[in-house]
Amino acid sequence: MSQYHEPFESLDEKTRDISRAINSLKEELEAVDWYNQRVNGTNDPELKEIMAHNRDEEIEHACMTIEWLRRNMDKWDDELKTYLFAEGSVLEAEENQGSEGINKSSGINIGDLK
Ligand SMILES: [Fe+2]
Ligand SMILES: [Fe+2]
Repeated sequence: MSQYHEPFESLDEKTRDISRAINSLKEELEAVDWYNQRVNGTNDPELKEIMAHNRDEEIEHACMTIEWLRRNMDKWDDELKTYLFAEGSVLEAEENQGSEGINKSSGINIGDLK
């Protein structure tokens, strides 16, 4: 229960589940980093392959957890829609946030095509 910064009893079930998901995400990302370092560090080709397999599964786990957060915590959906798969400058994606004409897949503002 050490991840809680407020008394556990004062948190509703949704907030507790969100905390579980966020802590899981932190653990998955930490594992991605550790496995990735091991891939880089080992000179044994088979171990390198196993560590890479494990790293890639941790990326899968992280993505599953992000999707749960998108469905269950406010703001994630809006931000992911803005930034994921945006092409070109990430900072420009922020400037175009909320712009009706933005094409998420191309990053091109429809207004630019006229
Ligand atoms: Fe596996
Ligand atoms: Fe995992």
